[in-house]
Amino acid sequence: MPKKLVLGNWKMHGGIQANGDRLKRLVAGFTTREAHCDVGVCVPHLYLAQAQEMLKATSVRWGVQDISTHEEGAYTGEVSARMASEFGVAYALAGHSERRTYHGETDEMVAAKVARCLDVGIVPVLCVGETLDERERGETRQVVERQLTAILKMRPTDDARRFVVAYEPVWAIGTGRSASAKQAQDVHAFLRQVLDSWSSSLSSVAILYGGSVKASNADELFAMPDIDGGLIGGASLDANEFLGIIEATQPHTVSQS
Ligand code: PGA
Repeated sequence: MPKKLVLGNWKMHGGIQANGDRLKRLVAGFTTREAHCDVGVCVPHLYLAQAQEMLKATSVRWGVQDISTHEEGAYTGEVSARMASEFGVAYALAGHSERRTYHGETDEMVAAKVARCLDVGIVPVLCVGETLDERERGETRQVVERQLTAILKMRPTDDARRFVVAYEPVWAIGTGRSASAKQAQDVHAFLRQVLDSWSSSLSSVAILYGGSVKASNADELFAMPDIDGGLIGGASLDANEFLGIIEATQPHTVSQS
């Protein structure tokens, strides 16, 4: 079974002092747990050098939360994938719902971001997920399938093998209301089916769940057969809580009702 993957998304939180403390605690706590999962933290761009310095000799990787659709040029305020890669970045989120909502990112823009990451060897984490309205209208599968296949259509299968998908229902992000393990598993199984039917070589693409994951619900979520790990927002800011989530990736014996 492939290792699970737990990624933190710090969003626009942090400061040099606070990051230093958080990373120190994370590294100290992670050493004994490293065998059973891969771990990374997606930090604001400004803190990449700090993350690189503090994590380069550890098994914790680091990433960014967004990158430009462009390779280079007159794009004030943007950060390119190549620039991020100079700081040893392993992962980049693409199409997080906050980017789609507040910055009008379309599937085409997200596809371009995925492409830029693949060009420089960064693993893109493609975020998909439905809003509450869409769920209530019974459109969840349609929405996530559209978001996923929009990207697949634009990438050759060989490239697509190198991404990670994160299912993040918009109504569960930062709300304290996680999808239940069953709700998440249903969508993950569907996404797996979409990947499989696209190409059998995509069957090993990791599918993470994100949206109000905490140490207290991670066990149950990670026990699901198609949940390969988590994308963790708020709870990744607290090293102990994040370590608790990492701990939950251990093969365990949670009873599934
Ligand atoms: P949350 O955020 O864990 O705070 O809900 C998840 C995310 O936005 O990636």
